[in-house]
Amino acid sequence: MRFGYQEIVTPIIEHEELIERVGEETDTVAKELYRFEDRGGRKIALRPEATAGVVRAYFEGGLKQGPQPARLYLFGPMFRYDRPQKGRYRQFYQFDVEAIGSASPALDVEVIEIAAGWLHESGISALRLELNSIGDHVCRPAYLERLREYYRPLKSQLHGDCQDQALKEGAPRITDHLCGPCAEAWAKVRRMLDGASIEYIHNPYLVRGLDYYTRTVFEFYPAGATGQQDALASGGRYDGLAEAEGWPSTPGVGFAGGFDRVVDVMAANGVEVIAAPAAEVVVLADAGEEIAAAEVARICRAVRSVAVDYEARSLAAMMRSADKLGARWVVLVSAEEVRRRVARLRDMTSGEQAEVSWDQLPERLA
Ligand code: HAM
Repeated sequence: MRFGYQEIVTPIIEHEELIERVGEETDTVAKELYRFEDRGGRKIALRPEATAGVVRAYFEGGLKQGPQPARLYLFGPMFRYDRPQKGRYRQFYQFDVEAIGSASPALDVEVIEIAAGWLHESGISALRLELNSIGDHVCRPAYLERLREYYRPLKSQLHGDCQDQALKEGAPRITDHLCGPCAEAWAKVRRMLDGASIEYIHNPYLVRGLDYYTRTVFEFYPAGATGQQDALASGGRYDGLAEAEGWPSTPGVGFAGGFDRVVDVMAANGVEVIAAPAAEVVVLADAGEEIAAAEVARICRAVRSVAVDYEARSLAAMMRSADKLGARWVVLVSAEEVRRRVARLRDMTSGEQAEVSWDQLPERLA
């Protein structure tokens, strides 16, 4: 990744307890946790998301002693026990990005930039980024009290939808009641997003479904989509998560993108996915020359990815198959040539063919 992030791999199964510890109140944990008992009677959960496990690995794997922040990414399956429907699967794939060990709002913007770049590269450029700050343990409780005070005398009026909407619009907004440090971070995030020319909408009602967030929260939607289950990537800052897991307090920020939903949108947009060729060079040899073919491939692998066709079939059939693979070159090895340690190198684009000694193949393919 061009932002200097390193891949991390964490277990797919977790003790139910770890996941419950980071969010007893949340929907995800309460309703959607995919759990079972193993043969030893242990309570096991399939991870519903990656962040809790990555934070655990940051401490257990000694990343805390390395350069800070630790910039990490992960790709893998997540599980949520819900009624499967379009865009909401029991097993789905996330691209997860985490920067752990820094409270700088610049990192909030860095991970947003990574998410935006990833979606753009997937051919999804019509996007809506929704952004909010939900404050922290200092200002959020005071704000929630203010909100309760606002609604208390209005309780009896809470019925019809239009009325609810009007009341909601008059309600106090957390971004008007942030404490000093949260307000400063919120201003910095917005200034830096402007600096990066990333457009966003301030959605004062955006709160996110997981318990561990503080300050910045965000969600990317395909332009025009409104449903919660349309979010393509979402995340935020989680300065209280490490402590909730029982580690020393450590700030972090990140997001996860949903591969399944991104692929659905790509398909709907007609984006063509062209797989990179599996091998740049294919070695074709006469029947019985497997040892020589393997040796020629070994020589070529110094500079290119190489596959060998070991099937006993006609040259024409082997050439067709090399073409299908998308190989740029074919190296032909006949019994007579093996004795002289030469081969024919064919450029599949121009159709040119030349005799080359085995030793010179790396130079010609470089
Ligand atoms: P999340 O919003 O629960 O956040 O999920 C992130 C993304 O995963 C969603 O935007 C969506 O694209 C995809 N997704 C979620 N549930 C499903 C599902 N059932 N089927 C298909 N796709 C789904 C998190 O998971 C946080 N851990 C993100 C984060 C990382 N926050 C900080 N760091």
